[in-house]
Amino acid sequence: MKPNKNVVSLAIILLLLIGCKTLPATPTGLVTEKAMVVSAREEASKIGVEILKKGGNAFDAMVATEMALVVAYPFAGNLGGGGFMVYRKSDGTTGALDYREKAPLSATKDMYLDSSGNVIPDMSTVGATAVGVPGTVAGMIAVHDKFGKLPLEEIFAPVIALAQNGIVVTQKQAEHFEAYRDEILEVNGGSTTFPIDAKPGDILKYPVLAKTLQRISEQGRDGFYKGETATSLAAFIQQNGGFVTVEDLAEYEAIWRTPIAFNYKDLRIISMSPPSSGGITLNQIFRMMEPYKVSKYGHNSEKEIQLFTEAARRAYADRNYYLGDPDFVDIPKETLLSDAYLKKRMESFSFKKATKSSDIQEGNVQMAESMETTHYSIVDHEGNAVSVTTTLNGAYGSKLYSDELGFFLNNEMDDFSAKAGVPNMFGLIGAEANSIAPEKRMLSSMTPTLVERDGKLWMVVGTPGGSTIITAVAQTILNAYEFNMSMQKAVDAPRFHHQWLPDVIMFEPQGFSNQLKDELRSKGYNINEERTPIIGKVNAIRILPDGHLEGGADRRGDDTAVGF
Ligand code: DON
Repeated sequence: MKPNKNVVSLAIILLLLIGCKTLPATPTGLVTEKAMVVSAREEASKIGVEILKKGGNAFDAMVATEMALVVAYPFAGNLGGGGFMVYRKSDGTTGALDYREKAPLSATKDMYLDSSGNVIPDMSTVGATAVGVPGTVAGMIAVHDKFGKLPLEEIFAPVIALAQNGIVVTQKQAEHFEAYRDEILEVNGGSTTFPIDAKPGDILKYPVLAKTLQRISEQGRDGFYKGETATSLAAFIQQNGGFVTVEDLAEYEAIWRTPIAFNYKDLRIISMSPPSSGGITLNQIFRMMEPYKVSKYGHNSEKEIQLFTEAARRAYADRNYYLGDPDFVDIPKETLLSDAYLKKRMESFSFKKATKSSDIQEGNVQMAESMETTHYSIVDHEGNAVSVTTTLNGAYGSKLYSDELGFFLNNEMDDFSAKAGVPNMFGLIGAEANSIAPEKRMLSSMTPTLVERDGKLWMVVGTPGGSTIITAVAQTILNAYEFNMSMQKAVDAPRFHHQWLPDVIMFEPQGFSNQLKDELRSKGYNINEERTPIIGKVNAIRILPDGHLEGGADRRGDDTAVGF
């Protein structure tokens, strides 16, 4: 049978229309042909690229970039913290690495409570008592053992040189030093060797840190978890009243995990599995939004904000109750991610009126403006991609700085739920699933993510921001996909956030009109008025149809894309 002429013309018009809709956005960020690193500091991105140029792959560049951030960005770059990595190799295989800190062997469920059962202020956030067993070095060595091409010493060489020769203090870095000066002095005393009074343009050298890095470069994980470093570190933490021992350090292992992967329209999104809540919460938000014509509502329009907020409200409520370290708790993952469950969750949603989060606890919850974690994205010339988020938790972690080793220690123990129902420093309310136990990993929101489109790698994305990480990653993907923005624009666009409790929408200062906020208020939404926070500091890469790469380095920081 001959096809009808009209049907053929209609099909061609339809194809053209579909084609038009998916015409990729013109890049506005850095475009390179083969490879790219986007991180919080130019020095770190450059060192990652240097390793790629020497024949290293994305995994070698990951180790180099992460170690360079320890030197150039002590605010969050770390030896004394932990993180997560999601990868996709050029052959399409994916995986994830968990190098999250864990509770020391001596930890107990009530370790941060006084005799009346109340949370002791600052104990899980400031100083040695807040420190979890660091995972970063184990993570780097695990990645290198499994996928690395270049020798460890070659990867570490430019990082050690950076520590010896020094980094130039930027304006933003000097502002960080200033902002945290008093806290760092209070924890470490006035004789601290951390250069807290440095000014923009000063050159900071870290000879002690260079020696610590040298030991790791020569001895691998034993250069950190055993011998001189481990003995010094455990003694230092204990002298300051903390719990981490040489035994804790010797026993620490990074764990390879299966990422959370799901479809959203014609995207496939691959993100971090527990003990991060990122992947599951992202999955829930996207699948709750999927039935709606998001692109038609308009970017940051009232309807988009309502839909996103209601999906996030429901997803964070589940996050806080059900999620924890999968090696300790049973997470009802199948149910939480099933279509039937998510459909039911959204049955109560209407564009007419806000759903109320039960037990509103705003008022006694502080939403701190906090970008203290850091994320970097890498794509190499073979097409391998890594998405990595790493943290000390707070800015400079617990503020405890080892003069003998040259680095800060985390305050990740605060990511546990010290007491059910009491919010942590991100205002997150935890439950039994995230209670403290020896060797357990604390629940995280870090969401290193990769996105495939039509079966090919399309985006590498992630951000700091504590509890706001998940919503900032989700909005960056939506900006690029639903609203067809370039990578740089998708990263720079103003963001908003809702996390169930407290029941408020936070808006970044620019980009949301008073009229829009009034309309939302009239529908019963609470709007956070007191503060004008930054939400997230996203570093992302988009792969263009011709294989070129577009960087999205967040305007909110010193973040820089470098590539070739
Ligand atoms: O793992 C987490 O979710 C937190 N420790 C991340 C902390 C963070 O992003 C701080 N910066 N805003």
